[in-house]
Amino acid sequence: MTAIPHFLGLRGIPKSELSTWLARIAYWDDLVSTGQPIPPPANPKFIANLFFENSTRTRFSFEVAQRRLGLHVLNFSPTASSVQKGESISDTVKTFEAMGIDAAVVRLKPEGVLHKLVEHTKIPLINAGDGNHEHPTQALLDLYTLSRHFGSLVGLRVAIIGDIQHSRVARSNVWALQTMGAHVVFCAPPTMRATTFDADVPYVTIDEAIQSDVIMMLRVQIERHEGDVFSTREAYREAYGLTTARFAKAPAHTVILHPAPVNRDVEIDDALVECAQSLIFTQMKHGVPTRMAVLERALSLT
Ligand code: CP
Repeated sequence: MTAIPHFLGLRGIPKSELSTWLARIAYWDDLVSTGQPIPPPANPKFIANLFFENSTRTRFSFEVAQRRLGLHVLNFSPTASSVQKGESISDTVKTFEAMGIDAAVVRLKPEGVLHKLVEHTKIPLINAGDGNHEHPTQALLDLYTLSRHFGSLVGLRVAIIGDIQHSRVARSNVWALQTMGAHVVFCAPPTMRATTFDADVPYVTIDEAIQSDVIMMLRVQIERHEGDVFSTREAYREAYGLTTARFAKAPAHTVILHPAPVNRDVEIDDALVECAQSLIFTQMKHGVPTRMAVLERALSLT
């Protein structure tokens, strides 16, 4: 029996496969950037975007990617669906599968649900953000952004700073960056350090973290906090924020990444979000070709 081409995470994905992804993202990026037409498929497939947690970038870049690929797109909103009558996530996915869709893009808040869905679903599922677990398309677009900027990821020092414990972006990025030969360090307040993380990543001070090729700031995820994880915006900015004064001490070639949405003047100063060394909006641009590559494989479009 042929395996269903789910796209669930980057943990354990070998370097050769990640390199293939980067090459395919570059193919779509160049095609879209140069305005070349993409022939519509003779028999367009149906794809459902099942976002059970809010999203702007991931949801809409998936939709742009789907429309560029000529797919039929179904957008599901939990607040306007039978989830409001108590229908489960599992039954919602089964319902779309019964209607004959070809694949689903899924974003979920609860831990472990995605892997349970995979056990019972016969269509490809694409992880668009899974609780605190993985956000593989975000990490792929981050890798692509860095490889486009630096040429190679080998030997790059990448500091991931902030709310590591609640970050699926950090998890997917660490696994993929280390596989590609980058050296990753973490910087976080004690309340935001990962209590469980299956990777060997040293914690460094904020002053040490700034001395990196890449500074990846993470959003303070207040909506996921339980207890006293965070005191005040000002205190956090003072201790762990990428302030203009702090960034002035970074090497001249250092670039800034952030998955966004950004808490301006909390984890990063407003003035830095769009500064010359920020790749934050470039990351967003790369979301579309990245998701085209992922959709193409899930739907066997080539
Ligand atoms: N980076 C990211 O996942 O953003 P959204 O939550 O807006 O999709």
